[in-house]
Amino acid sequence: MTTLTRSLCAFWNSSIGKKIVVAVTGLIFIAFLAGHLIGNLLVFVGQEAFNEYAHWLHHLGHGGAIWAARIVLLGSLVLHVVATVSLTRANRAARPSYAKEDTIQASRSSRVMIWSGLTVLAFIIFHILHYTVRVDSQLAELGKEDPWKMVIVGFQNPAASIFYVIAMVLLCSHLAHGFSSAFQTLGLNSSKTRPTLQLIGKAYAVLICLGFISIPISILFFGYGN
Ligand code: HEM
Repeated sequence: MTTLTRSLCAFWNSSIGKKIVVAVTGLIFIAFLAGHLIGNLLVFVGQEAFNEYAHWLHHLGHGGAIWAARIVLLGSLVLHVVATVSLTRANRAARPSYAKEDTIQASRSSRVMIWSGLTVLAFIIFHILHYTVRVDSQLAELGKEDPWKMVIVGFQNPAASIFYVIAMVLLCSHLAHGFSSAFQTLGLNSSKTRPTLQLIGKAYAVLICLGFISIPISILFFGYGN
């Protein structure tokens, strides 16, 4: 085993190492969500603008950029989930039978994080099958010719749209807490800046989620794109 491999193993095996992995991969997703939302909001600019954007994304760097982004996102997702599940297990095993109120509070909020996180994970799997792999043959056909129409037809399905809205609400709760936690883990937070970062985290989460929710709601309930 080389020194680098040994250091990486020691980092991964430590609790702080895993927390840093969770924080960094979480921040990668936070940045991705802003870009993904801006791109998706082009659905309201119109069919041509959205399709041009989809075409540009798929052909950037001769098609290499989207694959590079997919590898980074998938790698981040796997590391984020494996590290959080492992930290949660270790916390449970170490929890004393008697605990102070703030310990109970912290474990309650981490329990909420693990459940909202697992729902977001289920959502991401569903979402990739829905719009990237396109298991529905009608969406697969549209995805090649007209991605804008694919999004419209996809959200005309009430079950899919309602699932998206529920998942976005849980994503909001996950992001609101995760945002300031990530800064805290990376030591970029002090008792002075904590309230501001918490506020920014909550505002960011609400904006991201309202932005995403506006798409299925406009299509399903207001007939956008008909
Ligand atoms: C209304 C909400 C959303 C819409 C309309 C939407 C739309 C899309 C579309 C059309 C694609 C396929 C891109 C392509 O390959 O052509 C996609 C991919 C993806 N989306 Fe979303 N998205 C939404 C919300 C989200 C959220 C909340 C997340 C994360 C929690 C997310 C994560 C992803 C990921 C990881 C991919 C795979 C990237 C790829 O390989 O193509 N999306 N989304």
